[in-house]
Amino acid sequence: AQDKRESLYVLSAWAGKYFKEQLWNTPSGQSIGLTYFKERGYQESIITKFDLGYSPDQWTALSEAAVESGFHKDYLKEIGLAIERDDNSLYDRFRGRVIFPIHNLTGRVIGFGGRTLKTEKAVPKYVNSPESDIYHKSDVLYGLHFAKKAIKDNDVCYLVEGYADVLSMHQAGVENVVSSSGTSLTSGQIRLISRFTNNVVILYDGDAAGIKASLRGTDMLLEEGLNVKVLLFPDGNDPDSYIQRYGSTAFKEYIAKHQEDFIFYKTNILLKDTDGDPIKRAEVIREVVESIALIPDEIKVSVFIQQCSHLLDIEERVLLTELNKIRIQKA
Ligand code: UTP
Ligand code: MN
Ligand code: MN
Ligand code: MN
Ligand code: MN
Repeated sequence: AQDKRESLYVLSAWAGKYFKEQLWNTPSGQSIGLTYFKERGYQESIITKFDLGYSPDQWTALSEAAVESGFHKDYLKEIGLAIERDDNSLYDRFRGRVIFPIHNLTGRVIGFGGRTLKTEKAVPKYVNSPESDIYHKSDVLYGLHFAKKAIKDNDVCYLVEGYADVLSMHQAGVENVVSSSGTSLTSGQIRLISRFTNNVVILYDGDAAGIKASLRGTDMLLEEGLNVKVLLFPDGNDPDSYIQRYGSTAFKEYIAKHQEDFIFYKTNILLKDTDGDPIKRAEVIREVVESIALIPDEIKVSVFIQQCSHLLDIEERVLLTELNKIRIQKA
C-alpha cells in the first residue's frame, strides 16, 4: 500500500510538471492559460510560486503522455487524472483549464483544481481531483504549505473560500492564508491550523453563501477551541476581487479595520433581520448563546456572556440560564 501511494505521489508530481510545461512552453498554454492568469492580475512570480499550469483542450493529451512516460493506466484512474469510459478507454479529467496544484504540508502535489476559461454558466467553474489514497479532502487546506511559516510568525491564519483568494493575498504580501476550497470546514482542517496558531480570521465572500458559510465555520472553529474573528467584503467581493479592484494597500487597511470578534459579527448579522420584533430578537439571543456554548474554555465563555449581555442589553443571569439549558440539551 505504501508502494502504491508513493507511485501516486510520483504520478502527481509528474502531472504537475506536465501542466506547468504546457502553460509556459506551448503556444496554446501561453496564449490562453498564461494570458488568462496575467489578465487576472497575477505576476509571474506568483504563477511560478504556486506551480500553476494549463491543461490543453484535448481529450487524451495528458493520459497519452503519462502512458508514454511509463505510468500505468490504473494509477491515472486512481488519482482521477483520467476517467474510464464504458469501453475501457480513458479521457482526461482536466481539459482546456488553468490548473491550481494542491500541495500537502510537505509540499508534495496531491491533487489539482482546474478553472474553466469559459463564461457560460452551464460549464462548472472548477473541476477538482477526486478523493484518493493521497488526497483526503477533509484533511487538506489549499495553500497551507506556503502559509505555515507566516501563520506561525504572525500567530493568526486568514481563512478564505477560494484558490484565487490565496494567490492574490500572497501577491499583496499577506502570506498567512489558507483556503477550504469552497467546502465546509472540517475538524481535521481546523486541527491542521491549530498546529500553527489558535487565531483565525474568516474572510469569506461577501455574498449570501459566504455569510452562511462564515457562521457555520465560526461554530466549527469555536468548538475546536480557536479564537475567531470575521470580516465580510462589500458588494459581493471576495479577497481576490477586492485586491484586484482596490489594490494591496487598500486591502490591508480594510482587513485591519473591519475584522470583528465573532460575537459582534454574528449578533449584528442576525439582528439585521429582526426589525425590532421581540420574538425574533429572542431567537437571535438564543443563537448567539448557542455559539458561546460551543467554547470549551470556561473563562472565555464567561467573557463572551458578559459581552453578549452588553451587546443585546439583556441580563447576564438570563443568558447563563439559557447557556445551561443548551448544555443540558446537548449532554
Ligand atoms: P467561488 O465561486 O467563490 O469561486 O468558489 P472563486 O474562488 O471566487 O473563483 P474565481 O475567482 O471566479 O476564479 C470558491 C471555491 O469553491 C470551489 C473552488 O475551490 C473555489 O475556489 N469551487 C467553486 C469548486 O470546487 N467548484 C466550483 O464549481 C466552484
Ligand atoms: Mn479527518
Ligand atoms: Mn463564492
Ligand atoms: Mn469567491
Ligand atoms: Mn473570486
